[in-house]
Amino acid sequence: MAKCAQDPAMVDRIKALLGKAGYDQAFAPIEQAAGLPNPAYWSDEWFELEQERIFRRAWVFAGARAEVPKPGDVKPIEIGGVPIMLVHGTDDKICAFQNVCRHRGMRLVDEPCHRAAFTCPYHNWTYGLDGQLRARPHFHGANKGDTFKDGGGELLDLIPVRIAEFHGCLFVNISNTAEPLETWMQPVLEKLQGYDLSAIRWAGKIDFTIEANWKLVYENYMENYHVFALHPRLLDFAPMNIRGAGKWCGNTYTNNYRFPKLAKGRGEGLPHFPELSADNASQAVWFLTMPHFAVEAYPDQFTVLVAYPEAPNRCREEIHIFLIGDEAATGDKFAEARQEVFTMWEDLNKEDISILNGMQHGRRCPGYDGGRLSPHWEESTHDYARKVVEMMAAP
Ligand code: FES
Ligand SMILES: [Fe+2]
Repeated sequence: MAKCAQDPAMVDRIKALLGKAGYDQAFAPIEQAAGLPNPAYWSDEWFELEQERIFRRAWVFAGARAEVPKPGDVKPIEIGGVPIMLVHGTDDKICAFQNVCRHRGMRLVDEPCHRAAFTCPYHNWTYGLDGQLRARPHFHGANKGDTFKDGGGELLDLIPVRIAEFHGCLFVNISNTAEPLETWMQPVLEKLQGYDLSAIRWAGKIDFTIEANWKLVYENYMENYHVFALHPRLLDFAPMNIRGAGKWCGNTYTNNYRFPKLAKGRGEGLPHFPELSADNASQAVWFLTMPHFAVEAYPDQFTVLVAYPEAPNRCREEIHIFLIGDEAATGDKFAEARQEVFTMWEDLNKEDISILNGMQHGRRCPGYDGGRLSPHWEESTHDYARKVVEMMAAP
């Protein structure tokens, strides 16, 4: 299999962590391949490399614009191990900054909040919502502080983080080296032709802590194989014989099926995308854009599933539910049908989580080498593991 451009020193580090066989199998045909070996799920060094080489260099979903709806709203979040914050500015633009004071490196914000300015709790340096330093009390001696009308310049103002928006979804790119978000999301837009994404509205989110490596969340998300064993309600909605393996188009995996009829939580009782074709009105389509932006679209929803790595054996998953139009997302009229969607996702995820936790534990067995995969169902899962390796090894 042709390999993407690689940094040879990084390839050596990856091989040292995975073993040569573990590395080579990632590029082997599915019949000879395995999953990634145990160190990819348990090693601290591997975890740090993923944070640095993947989560700090890619576009990463950092939240919904609706989580910071008003000027002054702030959401802190950690991406790739870096504390950052999303800030709704007075000019109505959303900015992102590294969440750190330029004096002694104190974190500025530790929970979602509403602020007129950021005052560091340590020595009270104060920054505007635009990140500019405004004041340093007592900096030059007792009662000899200074103030700044136009900020303190690049050594003193908050450090900006690149941010871009995709239909109410906010993405950040810490390295500032990723290609433009519009380009990165192009495969998604192609798969969602006929879906008017301007109609989606954030209805809320659910979060879960999972005692498993973040990659297991996506490996599980991508494969239909386990549906018959784990998800009775989902199986009833869409049986095994209408499900397939999905495929990759560049950085994006996609899959879809046509379901026989709508169900609670999946298309029933809520407004659908405007002018949706009859074909799309009976379709579930889902995708995963590397490294972690997963979406399931039903006629009545655009649901985002993202996992944030916290440790080799722990991640936090957020499910953001976008419905069609303001009334569906927040109005009383649809409260019950909206709750069905939240309950459906909560229940479905719980069915997966005990398996994810168990797979993490299973990877403590030294005899397990990544396992044999189903060529019918799991080729895309194997491709995903290879893409993780490729992102880490990229120059
Ligand atoms: S660390 Fe922030 S003011 Fe000193
Ligand atoms: Fe599942």
